Amino acid sequence: MVSTGIFLLAFAVASSALENGLMRTPPMGWMAWERFRCNVDCENDPKNCISEGLFMDMADRLAEDGWMELGYDHVMIDDCWTSMQRDKDGRLQADPHRFPGGIAKLAHYVHQRRLKLGIYADFGTHTCGGYPGTTLDKIETDAQTFANWKVDYLKFDGCYSSAKEQEKGYPAMSKALNATGRRIGYSCSWPAYQGGLPPNINYTFLGEICNLWRNYDDIEDSWKSVLSIVDWFFGNQDQLQPMAGPGHWNDPDMLIIGNFGLSPDQSRSQMALWAIMAAPLIMSNDLRTLTSEARDILQNKAIIAINQDVLGIQGRRLLQEKSRIEVYWRPLARSTSALVFFSRRSDMPYRYQTSLARFNYPAGLYDVYDVFTGTWMTLPSHDTPFTVSINPSGVVMWYVAPATLQEATGEAGRYPNVRHKYRISSLKHHQPEGERHFFL
Ligand SMILES: *[C@@H]1O[C@H](CO)[C@@H](O)[C@H](O)[C@H]1NC(C)=O
Ligand SMILES: *[C@@H]1O[C@H](CO)[C@@H](O)[C@H](O)[C@H]1NC(C)=O
Repeated sequence: MVSTGIFLLAFAVASSALENGLMRTPPMGWMAWERFRCNVDCENDPKNCISEGLFMDMADRLAEDGWMELGYDHVMIDDCWTSMQRDKDGRLQADPHRFPGGIAKLAHYVHQRRLKLGIYADFGTHTCGGYPGTTLDKIETDAQTFANWKVDYLKFDGCYSSAKEQEKGYPAMSKALNATGRRIGYSCSWPAYQGGLPPNINYTFLGEICNLWRNYDDIEDSWKSVLSIVDWFFGNQDQLQPMAGPGHWNDPDMLIIGNFGLSPDQSRSQMALWAIMAAPLIMSNDLRTLTSEARDILQNKAIIAINQDVLGIQGRRLLQEKSRIEVYWRPLARSTSALVFFSRRSDMPYRYQTSLARFNYPAGLYDVYDVFTGTWMTLPSHDTPFTVSINPSGVVMWYVAPATLQEATGEAGRYPNVRHKYRISSLKHHQPEGERHFFL
């Protein structure tokens, strides 16, 4: 059932954050892991192995195929990029065969395209893939090495270290990155190694030292994996939701849209629910061979704008119906909001009837934009009943703006995206093909 006070709850946002000024909205970009893993066989699989060529290819695609303009501006290296040995001065070094130019040169290549470079290290004796890890005594050296190379982001994994060690290591890396004087986004895998929940994890503290953190298991290329992540994050939303905010985000892991495991409806569901969660939008797919269907979902401006809302309030699951329809909600700037109607059914499109009043929307007239069909409608009142038709394992996603906003300001609810302030009104006449998903 809908709890009264949903609106109040969601505004209780954690206070202080890591003060490096980065990631006021969730980071966006591309990361190698889920799609390319630890494929180091460049001899037999040169186009798909972890090598500088792969990251240069992806940087080219981000810069040339319209991703960067939408905010997808990070290219991120994951595990298996280093040589098996540190250099004679004890510094990490890239594998000389797979990264002959070295990381500094790759960073330059990425920066020339106005993108940012992310790198990976692991707090422990080894990385998860068995490469040299970063023990406590190496933290300052590694932070300085990354800064010297002009790296912009660090994913700090946690294989092969204990809970006790991690209590020291994650704050120490935060301090060391800060001490380099270079602003480097800091992603902490710490909570994922300690169960992801209080009291094992002090999220208030994490928000003071990390820009984002992996709370839970790695995503895999399957709908089952996406569902397990959705279940865990929304099942624990009372503890997790208040901890996200500008500069410090929960990270349910990469977008797998464009790979092999999701149907088109399931792909739309991942995109919609990640936007509700204020999750980082970090794709792990092959941008060189993406279908136009996957591209359209990942490049949906309305959903990106919802994800990147300036308030940075993570959304919540409002209710789970007996019909196996679920409703998710996220408050956005200017009293607008996003709603997702999600079907866990496996039979046929389900006609779900409800009203905004059911989700505690205040009385009034509402303009509603269906983000996947690109169509508008007006709801004359908050208690006007409406029906949405939701496909099995699919979603209908709405952007909801009080019409009084339009009367007061002379403009329709503007997408609250700092980087791309397109107006929702400019989308009004755009009618992409596809059926209307709503019926009054
Ligand atoms: C380092 O931390 C201080 C204090 O929190 C902050 O003012 C400064 O901007 C940080 N510097 C970098 C490079 O992150
Ligand atoms: C959690 O961290 C915050 C901020 O560092 C601190 O004030 C608080 O006492 C910690 N809570 C617990 C239960 O340790």
